[in-house]
Amino acid sequence: MPHKPSYQNATVCVSSQIGNDTAYGAVTPPLYLSSTYKFNGLDDMGKYDYGRGGNPNRDALAKTLAEMEEGAGAVVTSSGMAAIDLVLNLLPNHALVIAPHDCYGGTHRLLRSRQDQGRLRVEFINQNSERAVERALDEKPALVFIETPSNPLMRVYDIQALSRAAHKVGALVVCDNTFLSPARQQPLKMGADIVVHSSTKYINGHSDVVGGITVAKDEGVAEQLAWWANCTGVTGAPFDSFLTLRGLRTLHARLAIQETNALKIAKFLTDHDKVAKVFYPGLETDPGYDLAKRQQSGAGAMLSFELATDRAGVGDFLANTSLFQFAESLGGTESLICHPASMTHRAMSEEARKVAGVSDTLIRLSVGLEHTNDQLAELSLLFSQLSK
Ligand SMILES: Cc1ncc(COP(=O)(O)O)c(C=O)c1O
Repeated sequence: MPHKPSYQNATVCVSSQIGNDTAYGAVTPPLYLSSTYKFNGLDDMGKYDYGRGGNPNRDALAKTLAEMEEGAGAVVTSSGMAAIDLVLNLLPNHALVIAPHDCYGGTHRLLRSRQDQGRLRVEFINQNSERAVERALDEKPALVFIETPSNPLMRVYDIQALSRAAHKVGALVVCDNTFLSPARQQPLKMGADIVVHSSTKYINGHSDVVGGITVAKDEGVAEQLAWWANCTGVTGAPFDSFLTLRGLRTLHARLAIQETNALKIAKFLTDHDKVAKVFYPGLETDPGYDLAKRQQSGAGAMLSFELATDRAGVGDFLANTSLFQFAESLGGTESLICHPASMTHRAMSEEARKVAGVSDTLIRLSVGLEHTNDQLAELSLLFSQLSK
């Protein structure tokens, strides 16, 4: 076997699974849509038997992501929510899950619903409060769920400290790495046991696939997740996996530009008199700045801000968007603008949103690859409409 050098993350992202085709020597992984595969004989199946349990395109994507997150194995699922729910299969009935009170609205809804049906118990806490974390861990949770930076308030949580504390009480640590991707944060290296992604976002990067991924540090856990994924049928489609791996190749290049644009926009917003507050860990004034510097290799391209107006004013501000698409989701090449309270976080009760700090005047931006001058010009125009 030739010596395989240990590559940089950007190199793994571009080169993993390239040139592996044994049939025709195709450089990029060919697309295998077949749902079923021939057996060689009785009790003798080849590498694949049936598409729900295994598929070459899904495997190519899973292997690339496992390498990028430095985990033992990955499972590609049909959505980010399917990835998170897949992980919950590892827990016995009535197990306690500790989750952040300000997580993605869909994650909040899933955990709450698993509690309402009697499957699990859930406690939503402020994971930046040492006392709240200590008190929650005293209850011996089976799983601690982290999402950092958080959606939509960009709060940065300490993966290393939370993992260490959670492991002391025997809890499994799961980290949602959707907002940064392995190009900017590698939670498994900081102590998390499992990373989950909505690959719908930066990993695919082109807003044309809904998908998810789990990456486990331990081989046994990775195998259990693959077993449950086949058992429950939540695995991702071959064509989606093909597209996602294609999109993934440019992740580092995309993020570098999007992040530069995001910082410029965050600074522009900080100086604007119609903005009450900006949430972006790349700003030195942000409470998460120092921690982000330590555990992230960049601030990412998501940010949010409080408009100095009321709910009706927010409606006026969003009425004439053009370059920024008024839509949910994030991480694509195009810029998106959304109102979390009525869109991504509407599944949370008004009370839960209040506890999390998701106000009616909060706006979230997914900063895209357009020229920053045009992005800033559009935002200036939106602000000028607000003052009318
Ligand atoms: C942080 C985070 N996790 C998980 C999800 C769920 O992913 P999906 O929409 O692919 O199911 C989202 C979706 O927005 C998200 O923002």
